[in-house]
Amino acid sequence: MTTPDFDEIIDRRGTHSAKWDNLETYYGLSPDEGIPMWVADMDFRPPACVTQALRDFVDQGVFGYFGDDTAYKNAIVWWMQNRHGWEVDPVAIFSTHGLVNGTGLCLQAFTEPGDGIVMFTPIYHAFARVINAADRKVVECPMVLDEGHYTLDFDAYDAQMTGNEKMLLLCSPHNPGGRVWTQAELEGMAAFAQRHDLIVVSDEIHHDLVMPGQKHIPMAVACPEIADRLVMMTATTKTFNLAGGHVGNVIIHDAALRRRFEKVMGALGISPNSFALHMATAAYSPEGAEWVDALCDYLDGNRKVFDAGIEAIPGLKSMRLEGTYLAWVDFSGTGMDPAEVKRRILEEAKIAVNYGAVFGLGGDDFQRFNLATPRARVEEAVARMQAAFADLQ
Ligand SMILES: Cc1ncc(COP(=O)(O)O)c(C=O)c1O
Repeated sequence: MTTPDFDEIIDRRGTHSAKWDNLETYYGLSPDEGIPMWVADMDFRPPACVTQALRDFVDQGVFGYFGDDTAYKNAIVWWMQNRHGWEVDPVAIFSTHGLVNGTGLCLQAFTEPGDGIVMFTPIYHAFARVINAADRKVVECPMVLDEGHYTLDFDAYDAQMTGNEKMLLLCSPHNPGGRVWTQAELEGMAAFAQRHDLIVVSDEIHHDLVMPGQKHIPMAVACPEIADRLVMMTATTKTFNLAGGHVGNVIIHDAALRRRFEKVMGALGISPNSFALHMATAAYSPEGAEWVDALCDYLDGNRKVFDAGIEAIPGLKSMRLEGTYLAWVDFSGTGMDPAEVKRRILEEAKIAVNYGAVFGLGGDDFQRFNLATPRARVEEAVARMQAAFADLQ
């Protein structure tokens, strides 16, 4: 493998990048001076094998419908076995247009309008968007902040259930906050789902992005006893920075659930995008694996630089990420109104972040910073934050 150079500054301006080219529209920040640390994509190129696969496809020059997904499915099976110790049956794999799409399809397949969808909040904000758009109800079960670490309180969640809830939508590893759930926590979630007869949809899009020393456990491996109510969702897109390819995998081993999902896929006429499948097949390879190992080390370095710099500002706490590259900073110790925190980050530091309140209950005092960018930019962001909050020093 060519050694990846994650320090390289790649000019993404004017490339139809949501992260950079929507900066002005969404945040009023010029991409010439603003630092985009919001949407979860990385300012890195994917491994060379991915770009080469795309180049080969482009060079042959004909872009018809995609056929024979055997290699694609075999690549997924290989990856899950090698990286996650999970045996996937190729017949269980559906290819969707990403995992927000996968979530929407699950809502259609397994729930009815008005049904409650349970989530541990704060959680990835697009979930609530699709749930509300599908006329289902968001049921927020707030995580407990225990000395800067999120935990779960199943007694409280049990008491919250009304019988109208039909699905538990998990985020594993968790975004935001970066928890990599333990075996015991996953068992707690599975037992909770059984007690309340919930279908479990486990979004594991961040599964490869765990910090050194951490181990992600797929829900299907942790709790095989819930296989008859479990839908797994994974993707190459977050791991390899291929989000524009919009491809995700919904993996369902239970035949009855699979039939319900297949019907919705058929009803909506969903079929795969060739470009994305070529990229994903190439990514799930030994070269891709080596690249991910190097990436996780680099992200860990960014996290250390960021946490140290942010925590030098009195009152700020950056959650210790176990997974993901999305720093989650608690500003409650400053005693400042969240509106003033946002103003300083945006207008003084000129950094675009995701505002904590959009992630649901428990998010108000937090702001999310995307650290998947060259280290020099993380250092610049930290310096700007220290200047914007200099009066707290
Ligand atoms: C938990 C989670 N699920 C899904 C997505 C987006 O998935 P996709 O781009 O495949 O729709 C994200 C993006 O940040 C995410 O954090």
